[in-house]
Amino acid sequence: MSNYHIKHLEEYFQVYRRSVRNPENFWEEIAEEHFLWRKKWNKVLEWDFTKPEVKWFSGAQLNITENCIDRHLHVRGDKTAILFEPNNPDEPAEHISYLELHKRVSKFANVLKDKGIKKGDRVVIYLPMIPELAVSVLACARIGAIHSVVFAGFSASALATRINDCEAKMVITSDGSYRGAKTIDLKGIVDEALESCATVDKVLVAKRINSDIQLKENRDEWLQPLLDEAYGDCVPEIMDAEDPLFILYTSGSTGKPKGMMHTTGGYMVYAAYSFKNVFQYREEDVYWCTADIGWITGHSYIVYGPLANGATTVMFEGVPSYPDYGRFWEIVQKHKVTQFYTAPTAIRALAKENLDFVTKYDLSSLKVLGTVGEPINEEAWHWYNDHVGEKKCPIVDTWWQTETGGIMISPIPFSTPTKPTYATLPLPGIQPALMDENGKEIKGNQVDGRLCIKYPWPSMARTIWGNHQRYKDTYFSAFENMYFTGDGALRDEVGYYRITGRVDDVIIVSGHNLGTAPIEDAINEHPAVAESAIVGFPHDIKGNALYGFVILKETGESRDRNNLRNEINQQISDKIGPIAKLNKIQFVPGLPKTRSGKIMRRILRKIASNDLSNLGDTSTLLNPEVVDQIIKEAL
Ligand code: PRX
Repeated sequence: MSNYHIKHLEEYFQVYRRSVRNPENFWEEIAEEHFLWRKKWNKVLEWDFTKPEVKWFSGAQLNITENCIDRHLHVRGDKTAILFEPNNPDEPAEHISYLELHKRVSKFANVLKDKGIKKGDRVVIYLPMIPELAVSVLACARIGAIHSVVFAGFSASALATRINDCEAKMVITSDGSYRGAKTIDLKGIVDEALESCATVDKVLVAKRINSDIQLKENRDEWLQPLLDEAYGDCVPEIMDAEDPLFILYTSGSTGKPKGMMHTTGGYMVYAAYSFKNVFQYREEDVYWCTADIGWITGHSYIVYGPLANGATTVMFEGVPSYPDYGRFWEIVQKHKVTQFYTAPTAIRALAKENLDFVTKYDLSSLKVLGTVGEPINEEAWHWYNDHVGEKKCPIVDTWWQTETGGIMISPIPFSTPTKPTYATLPLPGIQPALMDENGKEIKGNQVDGRLCIKYPWPSMARTIWGNHQRYKDTYFSAFENMYFTGDGALRDEVGYYRITGRVDDVIIVSGHNLGTAPIEDAINEHPAVAESAIVGFPHDIKGNALYGFVILKETGESRDRNNLRNEINQQISDKIGPIAKLNKIQFVPGLPKTRSGKIMRRILRKIASNDLSNLGDTSTLLNPEVVDQIIKEAL
């Protein structure tokens, strides 16, 4: 994908203006370049944000795996497609060439077909970061099955919710996973989840840790013997551009997680286009994104975007702290990584450690650094720039969402001058707007407001699986004819964007989206708890951490507080996963509420952050006296 190798800011503005003047021409040109379409589209774009309905490249047909694998075979068949770096540094890395990937994906696809999986069926993938994860994703796409990867840190209950929501027929998992010095019993978690899932009739199990697990008869099978038997070629299913490619769950501020549904053609075009431009990938480069494929970052920028560009993409199984805090940099040196993309929370954690962990490695191969998932603070930005990039690698602070499918606002290296904490400018084709609380667009610079996107882009999610009304209510109802992101942002004097954080009840902890409502639901299920409210407060590594205000039932009042805290966190861990545990739990006699009964989280946020200025007028509350008491006992 050549497309735009934008080299100067002036060139960016030219391209950007053209993309806004005639978006359909702009995207059509990109789609025509280098992709393999089995049939061309009749129309580039049809859209109506009031329904909302968006279709890109209607009438076109393709298979995304032909674009990610087959079309590279003649030109770069022996090139490494996936470079797998295991958790244990003593285990050799695995270089999977495009030819080998073709064979592995084909075999896996044939196994899926053999087990009765057809186009449109949902397959839930619950795997660690091992090659089978990428291969199974691509195998689903090969046959038109809809993959839904669930991050293998989620609990059995969270996994079951997702399986049931998309009515998956199959689960792909492993006998366990390595995470630093620990192992995790993934198969046990799947077994527990499946006790409450009626739709799954097959479980394929990859062998990773050689643990002694039980296979359930007529349901579970080891994957490897099936792959060994399978034929190494699989004719790709021809998909319509708007056929679903995957469902990926993301937390909402209320209720159960939202299954964001992405479709095939537009997603492919945008993942490939944004990858190429944001990372300026060149043929000899070795690109590494440290995310997990269980998140959208891994979907778009470990699997689809890089492979659509014929890139070498590193897949790392482990954690940044194992066997020591130098692991990331050791891998950069070992594989001569050229582009490195990670999360601010990882940077903050590593910046706390001895600088020797960085300086003892040769990082001179690096050309571009990236961050994603949450705002990066100035200190972390400078540490990354000074010690990892050695001041010669532009940092792309990429703003986007599960819903957007690809990077929306980001510098383009060597073209856009970077500015710490700013995601800077929209990629060509993306039209952001800042809105005020009355629904009016705020024009001009040096302003702030709610971040919306006013024109469709190819990789936007098309719906929430099984709940189009929720899709409309969440994203298209706050502002007329706009996609609302849920984020606040400011635009500085030159038009650069800085994302200031969520304006809804989603809290980003270590780069993970956590909705307050599901966590509160989990806490409230504890028999001693009457009611609870969760807010975020600043944390120097996680970005935000969670603070829970909990009202106990009478039966809980006599209990030991620390035991209760542990039990509440265990409850959250069981229902959602350890990532959602609370850092602080304060037991309170009541919660500040409006007269209509709505919890005033604004006040709780201030208390949790120990910022007692401007608490606002509390006299209009239903129970103003409770605020003083909460402040007095704040942790
Ligand atoms: O609040 C924004 C924050 O992460 C949210 C999206 O989370 P998720 O769907 O899990 O996707 C994360 C990976 C794309 C956004 O609404 N966010 C993401 N990137 C940035 C960011 N906040 C500030 N700066 C960023 N670069």
